[in-house]
Amino acid sequence: MRRGVLARWAAHLPLTARTPLLSLGEGDTPLVPAPTLARDLGCSELWLKCEGQNPTGSFKDRGMVVALAKAIEAGAKSAVCASTGNTSASAAAYCAAAGIACNVVVPEGKIALGKLAQALAHGARIVVLRGNFDTALQRVRELAGRTGIALVNSVNPHRIEGQKTAAFEIVETLDRAPDTLALPVGNAGNITAYWRGFVELGGRRPVLLGFQAAGAAPLVSGKPVANPETIATAIRIGNPASWKLAVAAQQESGGMFAAVTDDEILAAYRRLSSEAGVFCEPASAAPVAGLLKLARAEPKRFAGQVIVAVLTGHGLKDPQAAIAAAPALGAPIDDDPAALEAALK
Ligand code: F0G
Repeated sequence: MRRGVLARWAAHLPLTARTPLLSLGEGDTPLVPAPTLARDLGCSELWLKCEGQNPTGSFKDRGMVVALAKAIEAGAKSAVCASTGNTSASAAAYCAAAGIACNVVVPEGKIALGKLAQALAHGARIVVLRGNFDTALQRVRELAGRTGIALVNSVNPHRIEGQKTAAFEIVETLDRAPDTLALPVGNAGNITAYWRGFVELGGRRPVLLGFQAAGAAPLVSGKPVANPETIATAIRIGNPASWKLAVAAQQESGGMFAAVTDDEILAAYRRLSSEAGVFCEPASAAPVAGLLKLARAEPKRFAGQVIVAVLTGHGLKDPQAAIAAAPALGAPIDDDPAALEAALK
């Protein structure tokens, strides 16, 4: 049974006797083996941390439950976030469960359909901003500062606290830390959170590989990107809020940031669903694309290693991307056994 992040990891979280034990059953997501991809990487084991199995279909739920519980403890009646989609879906669901109002600001035209449907279904007030995620985040930070509405983006330290629990689960399940942890990087909160989790556990730590989309790779180029573009809309971010913390985590781990093209992301996306049986959203395929790219450049790079790739969001989040990446459906057939047999030949 999924007890939820607050109950399960209470000893590691900033909870008090007055923190409400909010939960939608987040956390305890599976590690799924991916043997055909592991073979191509030349590593000993590749595990997929399937964060799409959280209640709203992304890793955001781990941090959102802590951020909202702490906001409610402090007396908040409403929350606000900027989002490329998943944060808004998660905030909307937890606000609904907690009975407080949710406001989300999203960049125009770039929110995957499933995420928008979630925010709408959970009754959030949605404002579509002409601008990108970076602008939206700047505006909601200013608004939260002026009004006292609880800001639940990952600049809220409680979000990072909740998200670090994924590192605890990985070490618990594998009975060790992986040699390498690969993950997609957008606003750079999650890589910061994983590092904190591994450091707090105090044992061996993985090398962190953070992958960005080539059209939105400020941490690779070392400078903000004014107009980020990628099919992986979740990580279409040009100026990550947790820039400094993420660079510190990457350096302390001996890891790196690297970019993958949209084509490389889509190739990994198809392989994950067709070979490993795990359907993730495009952004979540970036770490697998990146690992494959590094292994192609240097075939012995991962020899003997245990690797975990974090698949941050579910494939159903972005049905349009899935349909665009797949072969077209054939025309309907007549209801006739011979026609069916012919179609399946
Ligand atoms: N993967 C997915 C599916 C995401 O939704 C995000 C971020 C990331 C990776 C990157 O994580 O920002 O911690 O580096 N999505 C945010 C949002 C920005 O608004 O939903 P990060």
